[in-house]
Amino acid sequence: MSLPDEPAQPGSFDAPSTVLSESTATPEVRLYQRSAIEVAALRRVVDTWQTELGFWSFDNVLQVLARPGTLVLYAPGSGPDWEGVILADVGHDSAEVWYIYVVPEARTRGVARRMMRQLIALLQKKPHIGRLFLEVRLSNLKAIALYESLGMRRQSVRKRYYANGEDALVFRLDLHQDVQRS
Ligand SMILES: CC(C)(COP(=O)(O)OP(=O)(O)OC[C@H]1O[C@@H](n2cnc3c(N)ncnc32)[C@H](O)[C@@H]1OP(=O)(O)O)[C@@H](O)C(=O)NCCC(=O)NCCS
Repeated sequence: MSLPDEPAQPGSFDAPSTVLSESTATPEVRLYQRSAIEVAALRRVVDTWQTELGFWSFDNVLQVLARPGTLVLYAPGSGPDWEGVILADVGHDSAEVWYIYVVPEARTRGVARRMMRQLIALLQKKPHIGRLFLEVRLSNLKAIALYESLGMRRQSVRKRYYANGEDALVFRLDLHQDVQRS
């Protein structure tokens, strides 16, 4: 059952900008199809995580967006701001979550779980993509609980993976075999 304040279903877009075909645009003029509204909303989410966690700047995010295969999935809020974002890298046979973030005021309302489920459902429609991976700090118990609740399995530990020397836990989901438990 939907709660009254439940945000709309997540949206998503493939990050590399799509251009008009040569038949509809001259080679000199190309249409940037990702909307300015989406870019502004993404920027506000990035500014929020920078302030909270000192994680990637918007310039860092732009570098990731320029890579082929980057997917942005977001949870819209009731206004122009987004409640959460997933940045993922979709490769030839596997995908990886670069980052998942929910703005502080929208947390513990199921936003992250809905976005992850949406990502998994999108990937499951691509038969050639078999696995989803992600890394998380051993100390990030909230995120670890989230991934385990989605049926993801602990695959390995990357020793001293983070700049402060903390280990990373690598999670894996076999997209066409593992069953989501919730
Ligand atoms: C981790 C994060 C994405 C969770 O987002 P969220 O929208 O609050 O999570 P949800 O409400 O969808 O919760 C899903 C599950 O996550 C776990 N979880 C979320 N918040 C939790 C908390 N405060 N304490 C314990 N578990 C928590 C629970 O298993 C929860 O399931 P439950 O509600 O059935 O107990 C969010 O806290 C966040 O953005 N943190 C900062 C960025 C970050 O750490 N990203 C992960 C990097 S790998």
